[in-house]
Amino acid sequence: MARLGLERSVVDAEVLKRTAGRFRQAGVVLPTVAQLKNPATIPAPIQEKLRTVEPDASDSLNLFRVHWFNDASRKGLADIPAFVELPEQLTGVKARIVLLLGNRFPMIRAHKVLAAYGCLIPRIASGKFDPTRHRAIWPSTGNYCRGGVAISRILGCRGVAVLPENMSSERFEWLGKWVADPADIIRTPGSESNVKEIYDACAVLGRDPANIIFNQFCEFGNYLIHRTCTGTAMERVFDHLAKGRANTRLAAYVSASGSAGTLAAGDHLKQKFGARIVAVEALECPTLLYNGFGEHNIQGIGDKHVPFIHNVMNTDLVAAVSDRATDTLFVLFNTAEGRKYLIERCGLGADLIGMFSNFGLSSLCNMLAAIKTAKYYDLGQDDVVMSVATDGADLYASEIRRATARYFGNRLDAVSAGEAWGRSMLATTTDHMLELNHYDRKRIFNLGYFTWVEQQGVPLDEFNVRADQSFWDGLLELVPAWDTMIADVNAQSGAAVALNA
Ligand SMILES: Cc1ncc(COP(=O)(O)O)c(C=O)c1O
Repeated sequence: MARLGLERSVVDAEVLKRTAGRFRQAGVVLPTVAQLKNPATIPAPIQEKLRTVEPDASDSLNLFRVHWFNDASRKGLADIPAFVELPEQLTGVKARIVLLLGNRFPMIRAHKVLAAYGCLIPRIASGKFDPTRHRAIWPSTGNYCRGGVAISRILGCRGVAVLPENMSSERFEWLGKWVADPADIIRTPGSESNVKEIYDACAVLGRDPANIIFNQFCEFGNYLIHRTCTGTAMERVFDHLAKGRANTRLAAYVSASGSAGTLAAGDHLKQKFGARIVAVEALECPTLLYNGFGEHNIQGIGDKHVPFIHNVMNTDLVAAVSDRATDTLFVLFNTAEGRKYLIERCGLGADLIGMFSNFGLSSLCNMLAAIKTAKYYDLGQDDVVMSVATDGADLYASEIRRATARYFGNRLDAVSAGEAWGRSMLATTTDHMLELNHYDRKRIFNLGYFTWVEQQGVPLDEFNVRADQSFWDGLLELVPAWDTMIADVNAQSGAAVALNA
């Protein structure tokens, strides 16, 4: 399965030599997965140099910030990854709902830059991807391609973003500033749910041998980097929350699925703490839940397919959240009128209100799904439900106008704010949830056949092997192998020595 990002040794020494030459010239050092998992181990000279590097600058040292431990300034390291614990006053449940903050990541202010790096590692460190000759193609619903384009640029190679034309204008503005050529932004038809159209565009691009497609939906680097780095970051936060509270349990890990990379952290948390794994999707396109299809606006969670790297047989529950709820809460949390209502009528504090700027649309989806999970399992004050705030509100400012027109007749007032709060928050129930038994898991697993075997030509045995947990656990062996390969590239380039690292 080497074509799916499972290289474990050098495949082309000549390419690697050119890569090392490029890195020497540009002073690029690649971080290991172990360093991103535990950034305190990043060599002191690099940490020192990072102090003068802006977190959103196009500087290769920012690769050493592609982890969950960036502090509030996003320049230094925190002991515990940044997180928000939502109070009962907001959630209506006793369980502790905790979201890690993705907007601390560098360059794109979203955690998907981690997935992009995870997919790049096996290709670049094995000599399969040549940064001096190849173009890196990043198919995505918006944030992954930004992560890929950012990394491509700091490595000095050409990065091409492939994304649906209807994603938020903020994403396109960002891309416009980072790509080498406007032609490197390829707009595919449709929106969030049109992943098939993205695959089709990649099939055409893939015919040119100068293009290397980093398909996050089937690259195991995406799975492994999240299982290793996001899983460990969650563990660190959970240990912190459980300190001095012996009865604390990690009841569930909740993640809305786009490529299903982030869900991989659940495999770590289930192995370590027995946490249930909850996959979330949009109610308007309930593919896992009902074999359904449709359009929605929870940007980042693409659908109408089961990603190849989704460990379906280890998933415990599927929950659907309506984009009407995420859109209307987004307006409520991010407008003066909405905030006035939340303070005056719901008694929410200014700190909590300020924190909402960390929540983009899919973060609100994760929050609502975590509440549903807590209600479904009757969780109490000793239970923790963990999830991610994948990106912040700043990436969706233009959505406020759109949603205000669509749901509030262009004008939000106290009455309509109250309606939205009642409908989207207070009325959160356990509807549209399915606790998976073996047959449910098999049904979802089998649904993936049509995308991967029929459409994408994956051999049947490679498809079927993923039904076994030992396959997924076995992948973990790749991580130290990749780290050795990364260390070899760094040694060959000599760039680390130049940094005294
Ligand atoms: C904003 C946002 N939320 C959620 C996701 C889903 O994450 P994953 O692809 O790891 O399933 C993405 C993925 O691009 C995203 O950009």
